[in-house]
Amino acid sequence: MSIKPNLLEKAYQTNDLTREEITYLLENITPADREILYSLALKTKQAYYGDKVFLRGLIEFSNICRQDCLYCGIRASNAKVERYRLTPEEILACCDQGYKLGYRTFVLQSGEDLWYTEEILVELISAIRKSYPEAAITLSIGERSPETYQRLFAAGANRFLMRHETASAELYEKIHPTMHFEKRRACLNALKELGYQVGAGFMVGLPGQTPADLADDLRYLKEFHPDMIGIGPFIPHSETPLGAEKGGTLEDTLVMVALARLLIPDSLIPATTALGTLNPQGRELALKAGANVVMPIITPTSVRKQYELYENKICGDDHPEDCRYCIERRIQEAGFEADLGRGDSRQFISR
Ligand code: 5AD
Repeated sequence: MSIKPNLLEKAYQTNDLTREEITYLLENITPADREILYSLALKTKQAYYGDKVFLRGLIEFSNICRQDCLYCGIRASNAKVERYRLTPEEILACCDQGYKLGYRTFVLQSGEDLWYTEEILVELISAIRKSYPEAAITLSIGERSPETYQRLFAAGANRFLMRHETASAELYEKIHPTMHFEKRRACLNALKELGYQVGAGFMVGLPGQTPADLADDLRYLKEFHPDMIGIGPFIPHSETPLGAEKGGTLEDTLVMVALARLLIPDSLIPATTALGTLNPQGRELALKAGANVVMPIITPTSVRKQYELYENKICGDDHPEDCRYCIERRIQEAGFEADLGRGDSRQFISR
């Protein structure tokens, strides 16, 4: 008899699997196993968070980046991108619009753009904090010094998203010519230490990534225990060195989302835009496989298409209000309930 049903049951009952067990599962999973896995992940999500799906307003405020990640469309070497940078006033206007649409979490994401000095960021975060005392401010701006992270936290930032991208040190160094595996981990540790709610995560289907590497991603997350976990398929971008590679699949990504829910049951897991790009129902399927967050874009329509980390990213022509109501409808049609509250992680609430 196959040991897979037992492994799935073990994951559900104990929220734990060894590296070897995960690898075995990934190498041998069948379509029928996947359906069982998704339903166990959904049950787990419901036990921890009910049928709520938290909404976050995503502001992509600059596509200027000093890093040169081989997969990313806004890497420094891509001369074909038209670069933009929103001013602090423009970012505040996005927050205002987002607030009026009901969002109580603002995610400020950008390339690694040092035009936004610590001083500028402190001033911006303080202004957002002052205008919206009850809102959560999430940063996704890449690597800075622990001192800067500390000052941004003191200014009012609550959360920080920084994917570990891959738990394979070798693969990490290969696809990040300007960054280092250990440095990334040190940043994540520092953020957690400072008191941020931290989001880590990885891409699925990177060139050369093995099932054992993906098992290591889950083991790393299990040990690090982040509040948030972002998992998306790698999607090739033609203006990058990985443009001709194969991307990650919907099924493989959903399996990783579901396993993340089983192994780190109290985490907040977004149904990512990359999944929605890969398949029109990708985000809904992720919600049915354990995800419980969606991050609609509130970036001004005039610059949206320039924030293209991967090709054919959805919602490029939409306005913030389109995304707001489109997402709510999708959540309802998938059988869940949109929640506009702050949506802190269970781990954070009990800390
Ligand atoms: N395909 C999928 N995801 C990508 N990201 C960057 N480039 C791509 C791509 N080509 C992801 C990275 C990053 C997040 C903001 O977007 O994981 O952390």
